[in-house]
Amino acid sequence: MKNILSAQWIKSPKIALDREICFSAEFETEKPIEYAELEVTALGVYKAEINGNRVGDYILAPGYTSYGHCLQVETYDVAEMLEKKNKITLSVAPGWKAHGFFGRLEESFLGFKETAAICALTIKFTDGETRIITSGGNWKCENGKTIYSDVYNGYVYDPSYTDPEPGRAKVFPCGKSALKDRVGEKVIEHERLPAKEIIITPKGEKVIDFGQNLTGYVEFAIKGKKGERAVISHGETLDGEGNFYNANYRSAKAQAVFICDGEEHRFKPDFNFYGFRYIKLDGFSDEIKKENFTAVVVHSDIKRTGSFECSDERVNKLFSNIIWSQKGNFLDIPSDCPQRDERLGWTGDAQVFAKTASYNFDVERFFTKWLADLRADQNPWGSVPAVIPANNRWDHTSSAAWGDAATVCPWQMYLTYGNRKFLEDSLESMKKYIAFIETYSRNGLWSESGHFGDWLNLDGSSAEDCSIGTDKTLIATAYYIYSTEILIKSMNICGEDGSEYTERREKSISAFRNKFMKDGRIIPEYATQTACVLAVYFGISDDIAETAKQLNELVTECGHLKTGFVGTPYLLHALSENGYVKTAYDLLLREEYPSWLFSVKMGATTVWEHWDGMREDGTMWSTSMNSFNHYAYGSVADWLYGKAAGINTDESRPGFEHIVFEPITDQRLSYVKASIETRRGTVRSEWKTENGKTVYEFTVPEGVSATVILGGKKTEIGSGVHKF
Ligand code: BGC
Repeated sequence: MKNILSAQWIKSPKIALDREICFSAEFETEKPIEYAELEVTALGVYKAEINGNRVGDYILAPGYTSYGHCLQVETYDVAEMLEKKNKITLSVAPGWKAHGFFGRLEESFLGFKETAAICALTIKFTDGETRIITSGGNWKCENGKTIYSDVYNGYVYDPSYTDPEPGRAKVFPCGKSALKDRVGEKVIEHERLPAKEIIITPKGEKVIDFGQNLTGYVEFAIKGKKGERAVISHGETLDGEGNFYNANYRSAKAQAVFICDGEEHRFKPDFNFYGFRYIKLDGFSDEIKKENFTAVVVHSDIKRTGSFECSDERVNKLFSNIIWSQKGNFLDIPSDCPQRDERLGWTGDAQVFAKTASYNFDVERFFTKWLADLRADQNPWGSVPAVIPANNRWDHTSSAAWGDAATVCPWQMYLTYGNRKFLEDSLESMKKYIAFIETYSRNGLWSESGHFGDWLNLDGSSAEDCSIGTDKTLIATAYYIYSTEILIKSMNICGEDGSEYTERREKSISAFRNKFMKDGRIIPEYATQTACVLAVYFGISDDIAETAKQLNELVTECGHLKTGFVGTPYLLHALSENGYVKTAYDLLLREEYPSWLFSVKMGATTVWEHWDGMREDGTMWSTSMNSFNHYAYGSVADWLYGKAAGINTDESRPGFEHIVFEPITDQRLSYVKASIETRRGTVRSEWKTENGKTVYEFTVPEGVSATVILGGKKTEIGSGVHKF
């Protein structure tokens, strides 16, 4: 940031909520320019234009942050855009900041729903003169043509609209301490998907299918008749009868409305996004042609780093669905879902998916931003709000497995990228979180209510209460033990002595064993798959082999998984790491409900929130909680990378400085290949079984070493391609 701090915040002089406001200024540049930089941010989301051309490719800037501590400023190089006579326009719509739901009250700079902007344009001329044009009371201010814009409900655009009473912007005093150079990735447009099919549904609705559930918006060509309201509704799926369906969006109207003026337009919104695969068209009098509609995919500018492929096309489709769910939910924050009236940074979802996320894409910068928000929004007494950026509704709850994003996410980023700064930056936050748990623990057990439990599990959760199932004190205590282990390791890495925590952790382990276990098994009253998974995977059981055996029994007795958000991410690991490889693969390859492949069989193109989002008979899970684009269960991809393909980073030399290859095969797959583009180069693992013989090939980047573990035998290798 250079000169934006000398600019003034400007807003509309009128009460103008839920709509686009445009601020503009005109100026001349009469001599040759050396450089010109525009620094800009807004309360709301903005689009900057110079002489009618969009500045930069950043969509929905300045993004979604914990605004009280960070409002991102973008600096654009605009030298090439300037002419002799110039007009700069900043158009601002409510976005997250001015919505009223996406932040904390005390962070409100203005009225919760008012928008504002601030900018500075610095022009350095070749003769040495510097001119700074800043936002201020001399700027023109008028209502824009997006006459309504709301994150959940969508927009209304009226090309014929002009503000009958344009005026001057109103300067207002507002702090600038939260202004920071952009921390995260930009959000930009990615793929453009053509309309795949026009469908007339049994109800007679005009529906377009883009063939892929995605996040973004529709660009369309339209003429229509003057005054006609063309309405696009968004949906993720058709219902059992083949009709348009979006009751699962709950209160989010998710519409795009264009008021025709009889002229030809090609339009896409500047301030809104939707989660959808299908659109329904109402009020379109033009002939509906596929070429007039394109779905534009929008998400953070994260680079794809991971790939996975095997001989089972269903698993490949599952992997593709996981990638699409990550794209759809990595729009500036790791969100639960992109379509209904949430789209929030649910900490638990991010926590369980962080490892998969960091293998699929380069998310180092993305998580750097989100974790800074997490630390900023952590309550002074240590609890971590259930959504980050925090909002008032979910501010004070700190559920086990959700709050643990404070430890698990920095730890995972450290492991994947080898960047110690994640631990250094988060160490105090981790300690505060652990202290918070300890305040609410009795005799080593964390039983405070407010836990989301094994969310959406199949042991007892229902549409009325998705948290019932595995005992919540069991889950919470297990997570305390796990998070404390991460804290101790992090402290050691940062050169601090973590031994004071060791004793308290041991006490919790004993308390867990005394209350929930006997002879290495979870006692019947508490015995669920998730309970066993946690006792095994977090190393809590004093007889891991026995607890894993119990887990295997619980799975094989009922023949399928019953785990929710807490148990599912580690289920296959807990099995395959303890000799139950076949059971793990049985679960992976099962396609009847409940399973990962059930949704694939049902035609899913993203990961579902529910094991039975849509049932075989076409009926749906309750509309109360039924997203078809929820990445949490996509965490199974870390098992695909780490176990099926066997690519693992070594905790003692993170960031893939040393790799451990330990693939596990199954006769139902004839080959597996995966790769991860790491900070040290591309790591690859492949295996292929032919005539009962398996051949392995491992690729180790330059300067990296690896241990290969096959059939219990360890071999050390160096960089290059190695066959076994
Ligand atoms: C979200 C979840 C989230 C949960 C908390 C839901 O509404 O969509 O993904 O983790 O609430 O229990």
